[in-house]
Amino acid sequence: MKIKLESSAKKKTQLLCGFILEETDKVLGLPKYDTKTTSSINQSIKDNGGKLGNLTVIPISGKKPAQRILLAGIGKKDKITNDTIRYVSGKIALKARELKLKEFTIVAPPSFVKEVTASVSQIVEGVKMSLYKFDKFKAEKEVVLPNLTIVSSKSTKVSKALKSSEIIADGAIFTKSIANLPPNQCTPSTLASFAKTISNKNKMKCKIISKSELKKNGFGGITAVGQGSKNEPKLIIMEHNHGPKNKKPIVLVGKAVTFDTGGISLKPGANMDEMKFDKCGGCTVLGIMKAVSELKLPINVIGIVPSVENMPDGESYRPGDIIKLYNGKTAEILNTDAEGRLILADALAYGEKYYSPQAIIDFATLTGACIIALGTNVAGMVSSDEKLAGKIFDSSKRTTEEIWQLPLNQDYMDMIKSDVADMKNMGIGRAAGTITAAAFLRNAIEKTPWVHLDIAGVAWTQTATKEKSYNPKGATGFGVRLILDYLQKL
Ligand code: BES
Ligand code: ZN
Ligand code: ZN
Repeated sequence: MKIKLESSAKKKTQLLCGFILEETDKVLGLPKYDTKTTSSINQSIKDNGGKLGNLTVIPISGKKPAQRILLAGIGKKDKITNDTIRYVSGKIALKARELKLKEFTIVAPPSFVKEVTASVSQIVEGVKMSLYKFDKFKAEKEVVLPNLTIVSSKSTKVSKALKSSEIIADGAIFTKSIANLPPNQCTPSTLASFAKTISNKNKMKCKIISKSELKKNGFGGITAVGQGSKNEPKLIIMEHNHGPKNKKPIVLVGKAVTFDTGGISLKPGANMDEMKFDKCGGCTVLGIMKAVSELKLPINVIGIVPSVENMPDGESYRPGDIIKLYNGKTAEILNTDAEGRLILADALAYGEKYYSPQAIIDFATLTGACIIALGTNVAGMVSSDEKLAGKIFDSSKRTTEEIWQLPLNQDYMDMIKSDVADMKNMGIGRAAGTITAAAFLRNAIEKTPWVHLDIAGVAWTQTATKEKSYNPKGATGFGVRLILDYLQKL
């Protein structure tokens, strides 16, 4: 779809959309009409009431530039959040698709509602992300997407905001589209080839470490978890070096288990299909790297994605095994379903050793316990550095990808001590499962400020997920906009 800016709301369009605030009688930014049209608009304003997400379509007769007007409620002014315009724009776009339009126009709200560049960015994100649909494997596909005109000032600042938000939304959509792929169509080598493609397009360095090299070079976690599958494990490394040479990079690490059966500690059958989404952390990193390189951000960013398939097999790793991780520490395996922390520990240690980064951020659908603790609309955060955690939290407020920090002190670190190895890959029973998993990761990093995001509840839409126009069924791309906001502010 094409998106363009236009300074007048009086141009020809199939659908002209204006926002209305609850408790006002004016549509923000619509042009003046004749008495008859005005009275029908006024009646529709009353019917709509401006309630958040309420949509009212008004057919316009005669030779008017707009064939229809759409009123979109955005609620009370003091209740407007950083998500309102994005959410309502998403609903408008879904309406435009339902009406099978070729194009539609949204009038950006005036600055007393929201600062104009923020509005334009949110309109772009809401519209693009809501229109994405996972229909790759269906004969009946969505018709061509409608183009969008945004009525707003056409200053350089606004044009720039439009361009970068298109790239950011495309990053999130890319993450959704690969995360939604079924496990028979997306193996570790498929992810590696996606990484190669985006790297070649955008001049990033890309290195793929194969099964035999992983084994030879001491990646004991990735090797153990990956050894039960015919689909061999890969470690994917992408480098975006656009900052000063001596400036330490940010390292992003994402768990990409293309399917998590639990291995020998096999998961129960119910909803096991959802474990195709156990690669979402890695897909988030790929989406961020794609956008970072397209935005040409003047910083150094490294993306590291350990990818495996966790399968039961004659060659699988087992409960009772003791393995040696990349940093030399040993781990006793008590449950082969706690595999994410093993592959991440290797990747985190590698990232710290080879890149001496200023910060490490990881994303993982790591624990079911995170869903029990925080539900399906808030991600868990565990950190070794309050300053870094604060910055990620600030970004999360701006992008409305919600997170909540959980504590990590020595008592939790003690809970993963093993009698026979340096650590065990489980805590004590089910107590604080999200934190004991993070404690395991903490052991892989020596001194670098680190933030871990457990996205088990938020990476795809689940039964208790709150409806959001721009998160259609399936993977959500959680974390892409969040970390791009953080990186843009560096
Ligand atoms: N991928 C799962 C975590 C998960 C479960 C994410 C459900 C989203 C929805 C992870 O590998 C896992 O199985 N973790 C175990 C750890 C336990 C065995 C210590 C869990 O959470 O039960
Ligand atoms: Zn598992
Ligand atoms: Zn898993």
